[in-house]
Amino acid sequence: MEVNRIYNQDCIEWMQAAEPQSVDVILTSPPYNTSRRGSSLTGACANVRYDEYNDRKSDEEYIDWTLRIFEGFDRVLVKDGCVLYNLSYSAENTWLMWNVVSEIQRKTNFIVADCLVWKKTTTSPNSCSPNKLTRICEFVFVFCRKSEFATFKTNKKVTTHRASGQANYENIFNLIEAPNNDGSNDIHKATFSTVLCRRLLAIYARGG
Ligand SMILES: C[S@@+](CC[C@H](N)C(=O)[O-])C[C@H]1O[C@@H](n2cnc3c(N)ncnc32)[C@H](O)[C@@H]1O
Repeated sequence: MEVNRIYNQDCIEWMQAAEPQSVDVILTSPPYNTSRRGSSLTGACANVRYDEYNDRKSDEEYIDWTLRIFEGFDRVLVKDGCVLYNLSYSAENTWLMWNVVSEIQRKTNFIVADCLVWKKTTTSPNSCSPNKLTRICEFVFVFCRKSEFATFKTNKKVTTHRASGQANYENIFNLIEAPNNDGSNDIHKATFSTVLCRRLLAIYARGG
């Protein structure tokens, strides 16, 4: 019987208490730290996206927060599991996403094994910028442990074998076209679409 559990709590606290190496795959999307960058607003007024979480951290605070999350991932994820980390950037802070990925690779046991592009169906036009394009794509970074770079688990199927015995695997493109979400939601503006989650889990979840 399939059992789904939802834990409505801070993921850092949950990961500290959870059974080590008890999670097969992690699919998540953190806040991007992009609330009103460049705005003169401060405090709660500027923190427009979340009621509790501060989405206007300094770059350094945001990186430290991310590294704590990855410490948790390292604790709960099975040895050959992977982290599907959806991240993007804003027109006002284009560099943070890249610095975050770099610091994860420098300071944790994880490395980028793949980078998938999620092409969404709609997005807000970037009509204010003379030089930056409208971002309709986001990224899903596939992190595995450095020790598992060649061996982390996917569901890629073997299609044929070469004369040498070496396996040929099916071709899966690193582009996923999927809706932004499953419909508008008054209390949460950034839900994943089921299509995106299903596509990702089909590739990376055990039994997917
Ligand atoms: C950009 S949204 C992504 C939501 C994701 N796409 C989904 O469908 O759930 C970031 C989410 O992370 C949540 N969040 C921020 N800090 C958290 C924490 N420490 N533990 C659990 N959730 C957290 C926010 O409340 C928000 O719902």
